[in-house]
Amino acid sequence: MKFVKERENTERYVDNIFSVVRAAKADPEGINATAGCLYNEEGELFTYASVYDQEKQITPIQRASYAASPAGNDAYVEAITRFVLEDKVDNHHRSIATPGGTGAIYTSMRKCLEEGDTILYPAISWGNYKVMASEMNLKTMTYDIYDLDDLFRKLDMFKSKVFLIVNSPCENPLGYSYSTEEWKRIMEKLVSLKKEVVLLCDIAYIDYARDGSKEFFTLFNDIPDDLLVLIAASASKAFSYYGQRIGALIAIHNDPEFLDHFINLSGRLARATWSNLSNAAMLNISEVLDHHYEEYQEELAQAKGMLKKRTDLFIRQAEECGLELYRFSDGFFVTIRMENNEVRDSFHQKLIDHHIYTIKVNRGIRVALCSMPLRTVDGLAKKIKELM
Ligand SMILES: Cc1ncc(COP(=O)(O)O)c(C=O)c1O
Repeated sequence: MKFVKERENTERYVDNIFSVVRAAKADPEGINATAGCLYNEEGELFTYASVYDQEKQITPIQRASYAASPAGNDAYVEAITRFVLEDKVDNHHRSIATPGGTGAIYTSMRKCLEEGDTILYPAISWGNYKVMASEMNLKTMTYDIYDLDDLFRKLDMFKSKVFLIVNSPCENPLGYSYSTEEWKRIMEKLVSLKKEVVLLCDIAYIDYARDGSKEFFTLFNDIPDDLLVLIAASASKAFSYYGQRIGALIAIHNDPEFLDHFINLSGRLARATWSNLSNAAMLNISEVLDHHYEEYQEELAQAKGMLKKRTDLFIRQAEECGLELYRFSDGFFVTIRMENNEVRDSFHQKLIDHHIYTIKVNRGIRVALCSMPLRTVDGLAKKIKELM
């Protein structure tokens, strides 16, 4: 092909999520279980008053301004790092602002991997890991998140640098969260490899996980020098700030000099890729975290309560009618088990024909309970089971 690079993935890019979301929105009778965003009980996108009231204070000049640096505004970087890590990490760490969790994951892959290197990520997972790997000419290997022995077998297959993605808590789409015990086992295994390991923790949904979900961060205080921990955080989910495109990449390592080097590389990548982020969005979130933290926490607790009612109800009703789900802990989504992807395809279409819009994932169908009011969730498991 002329003009474009030779080594490109030339398959037509179809975003499965956005196309079904569009169809769901166009159907007045539709049950929309597609969106990866939190909706309120009135069926509108959930917004935090503490975030959006504060945003009104931002002036046109602040909005119009470029951010202070490609690595983000200092106040934002400091506030978001404190917010994410709480008081759990006393090992050395440095952060950079990124366009959402996506930008943090992209930066991690771009800076740590050469073309042809391999990423290891969950077999049933967020589709964008694979899209990013393909964009960067990386190889992929997957593991079963429920089976740590499978993960350990896959880790043993690496000849050189390991790049492992763990999306916990609230994995998208399974809603599974590793316990602290499971995290301990994972860390022990990574240490025992005695290889260079990059552990990328995608914590996009952590703010909606049960209390104590940040306990595993304390394991990053005692790590060997050949382990780099990267945390990809998303303001999209935490603050219902999806379109504002901010997040953070937090790097944890024993050596502050290495961290300085890594942040320098990441800052240059940022400059060359998105140049810088929204000044207004960073100003706003740092103001919320510095001056409206309690208000925000109260609203977050309500949002979590709302989500939990939906997931509790759906899971109870799924059990009652025998609809088989993958094991769930917490989060935005549950996934119906469908081992055969051809059967899944035809069942997904059948659901659409009956005005139920969901998302196809590997060996399953994702139901976004985050996007539906409780009254819509009520009875949905039975409707789905009856169509099976
Ligand atoms: C598992 C997972 N990680 C990361 C992200 C990144 O989100 P954003 O780039 O909007 O912060 C998403 C968004 O849907 C996600 O589902």
